[in-house]
Amino acid sequence: MSNRIAVLASGRGSDLQSLIDAVAAGSLKADIRLVMSDKPGIMALERAEKAGIKAVCVPRKECANQQEFEEKMVAELRKADVEYVILAGFMRILSPYFVNEFKHKIVNIHPSLLPSFGGAHAHRDVLAYGTKVSGCTIHFVDEGMDHGPIIMQGAVPVLDDDTEDTLGARVLEQEHKLYPQAVQLLIEEKLEIVDERHVKILK
Ligand code: GAR
Repeated sequence: MSNRIAVLASGRGSDLQSLIDAVAAGSLKADIRLVMSDKPGIMALERAEKAGIKAVCVPRKECANQQEFEEKMVAELRKADVEYVILAGFMRILSPYFVNEFKHKIVNIHPSLLPSFGGAHAHRDVLAYGTKVSGCTIHFVDEGMDHGPIIMQGAVPVLDDDTEDTLGARVLEQEHKLYPQAVQLLIEEKLEIVDERHVKILK
């Protein structure tokens, strides 16, 4: 059993913060060894530094191609000796190379109830479609986009006067509650991948 994790982020880092706070509160027994981003100067890196966690940026723009970018990230993850990779608002698609380097060890959180509304504009798409419920999905990462087997979901109502911001904030509350719980189950090895679509939470 290993509790060594890396968190990958591309922006504000509030999901990362929920993990940092849960570690501080003792409800998440993870060792966050590394926070890594694809962009410099983002809030997630600042949050890591403030919490005394190693923060590394591998700028995608400075890499010749996706393979070089991912090889650099894998090298950092190996150096940090992490077992699990937690995507927390990491807005890059990972190739089969990266996914296979950490097979069944990568999890993601997405701000909709998958398989509905995958992609980069979930809240906008939910509001345009007119669904009455939205939420978040935590899933293992496989080679498809927003596709791997689902670990946990949290639902919230969509209100008539919602904007992307108000809906996004309501979904984020769920994210911040559920992600630390899911990561704790992951490091406790209580998530059994039954087949390519099903995850069982062990008692
Ligand atoms: C979160 O809502 C997360 O679910 C979403 O980005 C936001 C990051 O917020 N992730 C995706 O859309 C992944 N496809 P944060 O930077 O404050 O943690």
